[in-house]
Amino acid sequence: MSSSTTNIESVLHEERVFEPPAEFAASARIPSMEEYERLRREAEDAPEEFWARMAEEIHWFKRWDAVLKWEPPHAEWFVGGRTNVSYNCLDRHLSTWRRNKAAIIWEGEPGEVRTLTYQQLYRHVCRFAHVLKKLGVERGDRVALYMPLVPELAVAMLACARIGATHSVIFAGFSAAALIDRINDAGCKLVVTADGAYRRGTEIRLKDAVDEALKQTPTVKSCVVFRRTGSPIKMQAGRDHWWHELAESVIESASSHFPAEELDSEHPLFILYTSGTTGKPKGILHTTAGYLLWAHLTTKWVFDLKDDDTYWCTADIGWVTGHSYVVYGPLSNGATVLMYEGAPNHPEPDRFWRLIERHRVSIFYTAPTAIRAFVKWGEQWPRRHDLSSLRLLGTVGEPINPEAWMWYRETIGGGRCPIVDTWWQTETGGIMISPLPGATPTKPGSATKPLPGVDVAIMTKQGEPVEDGMGGYLVIRRPWPSMLRTIWGDDERYRQTYFGEIEGTYFAGDGARRDRDGYFWIMGRVDDVINVSGHRLGTMEIESALVSHEAVAEAAVVGRPDELKGQAVVAFVTLEGTRQSSDELKEQLRRHVQKEIGALARPDEIRFSDALPKTRSGKIMRRLLREIAASGSVSGDVTTLEDFSVLERLRAQEEE
Ligand code: WT7
Repeated sequence: MSSSTTNIESVLHEERVFEPPAEFAASARIPSMEEYERLRREAEDAPEEFWARMAEEIHWFKRWDAVLKWEPPHAEWFVGGRTNVSYNCLDRHLSTWRRNKAAIIWEGEPGEVRTLTYQQLYRHVCRFAHVLKKLGVERGDRVALYMPLVPELAVAMLACARIGATHSVIFAGFSAAALIDRINDAGCKLVVTADGAYRRGTEIRLKDAVDEALKQTPTVKSCVVFRRTGSPIKMQAGRDHWWHELAESVIESASSHFPAEELDSEHPLFILYTSGTTGKPKGILHTTAGYLLWAHLTTKWVFDLKDDDTYWCTADIGWVTGHSYVVYGPLSNGATVLMYEGAPNHPEPDRFWRLIERHRVSIFYTAPTAIRAFVKWGEQWPRRHDLSSLRLLGTVGEPINPEAWMWYRETIGGGRCPIVDTWWQTETGGIMISPLPGATPTKPGSATKPLPGVDVAIMTKQGEPVEDGMGGYLVIRRPWPSMLRTIWGDDERYRQTYFGEIEGTYFAGDGARRDRDGYFWIMGRVDDVINVSGHRLGTMEIESALVSHEAVAEAAVVGRPDELKGQAVVAFVTLEGTRQSSDELKEQLRRHVQKEIGALARPDEIRFSDALPKTRSGKIMRRLLREIAASGSVSGDVTTLEDFSVLERLRAQEEE
């Protein structure tokens, strides 16, 4: 089928099925549906034995006493065991031929390339572990990492993991205000950053943002700065240190080795902030052994990793995809990971294809929002390059439209590469629903089936099962090793958010349906969270940012379908008494949101209104606003609406 002649179709009528290519299956790690079913049954019939068998794959300093302690909604995995994530990602490869294998091949946006073998990466990590110790960072302390996509970010993560410090990576696109919230919530002692980052040829000045943030973060004692761009920055004596100077000073005073701490299975590995429906972002907490095990296994199964692969996941390390599938999963498998610092269209829209050709990438994992942009830029860009090294493609972040899936398959994969559409979340730590590329027949737009050991189902809000073919709430019925353990500092919110909606089960916040073949089709979020370019944004956070502007009385934010970004941010804004609406004010408000949260959250559209539609109990009726934002009209039940005229006025405004 030619990709350029097909039209966008509804997911609901997707009938195409693609079998795994025989050649792929022949050497795949999980080579058939029989093998998949066998693993799945094993996990179902005797879960603890299954997980115990799987856990043999990682290195333990001390074996666990019990596989699982489950006191809903709290789980402890591999109780009493001791391991270390950094040891699993580094040391255990050093006694094998992989010692001199490339661990990281990094390309900067300006085009320079650096390669670090496992041995070299290990030395960098040990050195930085010494640096952390020198700065007084102890086991259990929190460290904020606000960095460009450079190998040193992985080094810093692995060094934290090595000494038992808990890292909190904050995406370099977030603003100083977002940094303050996250640093204070976790009580970070140290911030690791860089002078700047390159993005689309210009520099993002990271250290300036850190300087602004550190005025309001009393727990931070020091700041380490990696030199990336070399542009002038301020260094505050006593607080700020150059990475390279510290690293040099420790080589003189310490041996290059730093032994990995033997950490409890449940030792906090990292906190990663993600958006929720209300209030401030949630610090999702992941711990050591269970997280590592699932990152390791899923990387091996889903990406069918082999030693001669060059694996590239395009995600920024600031998101969970980067944690699990740029750093921890691939490195614990001893893979060669490509990292690319910059934008996909710099200097031209073929940068990704250039990278694949240059480094002979064999496994490529990206997001639907990127794929839609590639479709839009045109197939002449990938056509210019030899993409024959590719053998497997993946996608993550949001539902992928079947036609984008077909384009990906034909134009990038040359019709020969299986596609793994992987469903998971920051909270799940690793992939939960996905094809196994050598086993699962794929259907464009479906994440297909749960991985072995994953018990997902579709339920009603009352917790009743939903029959196949019908939509409902996506839930996970049994605990899994890489599940979040809590929300940092707010266990009550953890209970409420994930286990309070449907009694006794984890509720993912997504709507989904299962077809007659047992395939899952994710329909998107059912809560007040929108997905912009594969990133979750809480509407409430954007509303709070808007309301913090002096001109704004009230704001409601909804998502509108967007061809490129998946969803666009639409803000309905009521102004303070005497303020007049204007284009200039719109632009001011956009900039204000960007300053408060970051560019991702910047509203695509702002609509001024003298009132917002509310229920009698005062709740903003987002469903109506979503409809107005998408189509300009409203259908369905409006009987709870308090003031009907509001709707008329909003619609009239639309027609202006
Ligand atoms: C939300 C999680 C997991 C890493 C990236 C995002 C949506 C994710 C898929 C997929 C349909 C998907 C869901 C989910 N999502 N992957 N393959 N198909 N939807 O992590 O920021 O925690 O967001 O992303 O809505 O709940 P996140």
